[in-house]
Amino acid sequence: MNLPSRVRIVEVGPRDGLQNEATSVDVATKLELIQQLSDAGLSYIEAGSFVSPKWVPQMNGSDAIFQQLPANSATVFAALTPNMQGLERALACGVKEVAVFAAASESFSQKNINCSIAESLDRFRPVAARAITEGVNVRGYISCVVGCPYEGAIEPNKVADVAKQLLAMGCYEISLGDTIGVGTPAAIEQLLNRLLQDIPPNRLAVHLHDTYGQALANVLRALQMGISVVDSSVAGLGGCPYAQGASGNLATEDLVYMLNGMGIEHGIDLAKLVAAGQFISQHLGRVNASKVARAL
Ligand code: HMG
Ligand code: MG
Repeated sequence: MNLPSRVRIVEVGPRDGLQNEATSVDVATKLELIQQLSDAGLSYIEAGSFVSPKWVPQMNGSDAIFQQLPANSATVFAALTPNMQGLERALACGVKEVAVFAAASESFSQKNINCSIAESLDRFRPVAARAITEGVNVRGYISCVVGCPYEGAIEPNKVADVAKQLLAMGCYEISLGDTIGVGTPAAIEQLLNRLLQDIPPNRLAVHLHDTYGQALANVLRALQMGISVVDSSVAGLGGCPYAQGASGNLATEDLVYMLNGMGIEHGIDLAKLVAAGQFISQHLGRVNASKVARAL
């Protein structure tokens, strides 16, 4: 089997996970979670989001979080920035890596960021340019790469079109979001077959919500096709407030367990990761959504 020898895991729990909780988690608890994840060996953690507090109040404490994160950590702490206002807030807190987030579905783009896909790309271009001038790396997300909660199936050509525009504005990597987790390995294969015609595999990542229990199978298919960056969320937290039915992300614990079994390097201590997942699950008063965490 053709597989990468090492996978880079992008931990999105503190952002994608906690943005979707009914109540906001306090800054001290978020900082404790981020610290535990960093101690577990996660080298890239999406720690917050500089979006409108009216749209996503759960991400309100992001300024305070980034001000308090250790400046000299080996871990990269990243944030979502939907517009110039978000980027200015991020820069003011010393953020070193940001992500812009587009969609492959017009309806989802309107619901999530209140503009069309073309308008969002026009908005992101100066954001990316300014970030790069400041020495801040920019990642690009595309939501609804397989299916949309409002429009149904999405054409791979649509994803390719958005991906090429995000790369052209300076995003170093495109994270492909199956926002509502409807994809199967066949759909992921079809999508990647199209994208890989124009984009090298080392510029792509997968971000797979596990709504239908397909995420791990879909990751495996992506790895076989040359992708080696995978987004996941501790304790399987996650979802998008503007995508009904978007349940948690692939649990980082489940991903790490699979990679361990396959002899693929990742640099993460599973026991410490499970402890971090237990910490936040207990705080939220919910059952840990990682099967591996429950089994261990
Ligand atoms: P808008 O209402 O069109 O914005 O929202 P606006 O520019 O017209 O401004 C309206 C008000 O918002 C103004 O305040 C602005 O100052 C304020 P007012 O004058 O009314 O008092 N505002 C801001 N405040 C703070 N920070 C900002 C900011 N921007 C404007 N950055 C906007 C447009 C994009 C801001 C809004 O729609 C928004 O914040 N959307 C974010 C939604 C979101 O966070 N969704 C979840 C993340 S995406 C996701 O989860 C998917 C992903 O995981 C991948 C996958 O799974 O597919 C990434
Ligand atoms: Mg997501």
